[in-house]
Amino acid sequence: MADPRLKIAVLVSGSGSNLQAVIDACEGGELPGRVAVAASDNPEAYGLERARRHGIPTLAVDYKKTPEEPPGPLPFDMEKLSAEQRLFTGPEEELRRRLGRLALFEEELVRGLEPHAPDVVCLAGFMRLLTPHFLSAYPMRVMNIHPALLPAFPGTDGYGDTFRYGCSFGGVTVHFVDPGEDTGPVIAQLVYPIYPDDTLEDVKKRGLGLEHRLYPRVLAWYARGQVEVGKDPEGRAVVRVAAPDYEDFVRDAVLSALR
Ligand code: GRF
Repeated sequence: MADPRLKIAVLVSGSGSNLQAVIDACEGGELPGRVAVAASDNPEAYGLERARRHGIPTLAVDYKKTPEEPPGPLPFDMEKLSAEQRLFTGPEEELRRRLGRLALFEEELVRGLEPHAPDVVCLAGFMRLLTPHFLSAYPMRVMNIHPALLPAFPGTDGYGDTFRYGCSFGGVTVHFVDPGEDTGPVIAQLVYPIYPDDTLEDVKKRGLGLEHRLYPRVLAWYARGQVEVGKDPEGRAVVRVAAPDYEDFVRDAVLSALR
């Protein structure tokens, strides 16, 4: 009989503590899934080592080695890509160069992931933006965890931005990835307090603790078919979690972040 568990690909660039949380939840039976492959744009990422320790196949596509120009014809339609992307602005030539390099890298990543046939691709500290070229291989099946309460503080330093702005609450978000940067439909979020004597390190620690609870749980809901995607009146995708444990989970997690 075919394995009914959700096949998860996790993309990391660094430490991979979220990858670890997902692996642990799979192994502990809280998440009816398995990490089918861990991939990285950085061959040195510690996350790959974590995966290897659990016997999980790894894939490294070194972005730094991706050529700026393809050796042969482009494996994608640049006109289409450039019209669909929402990541870069600026002079056309520069934009196409950045997009082209990224899409070449993505092409290799898609090919590498293919044999593992993931049901869902999870970005977990993956420090590359993804273009519609990659996203079209996994439509509404790419998730990301972001260290802020989106739509506040998109970008690479969610904890730093939240802290420096003087927020008294911060948050973490799991969302589907769309062609913009951190703009895709929110699946679930958790919040934590920031106290007057907190340092940025305190904030990161509290937030990361919540990330490690949230990502595996979202994947468990997804695996059980409890993540419903609909449309708002403007046609924008919106997500509703229809899980019986949703409220208890949020209550317990948020309470755990209080001091
Ligand atoms: C996390 O804070 C995640 O939200 C952000 O990058 C960090 C990755 O941490 N996107 P790790 O590699 O999972 O330890």
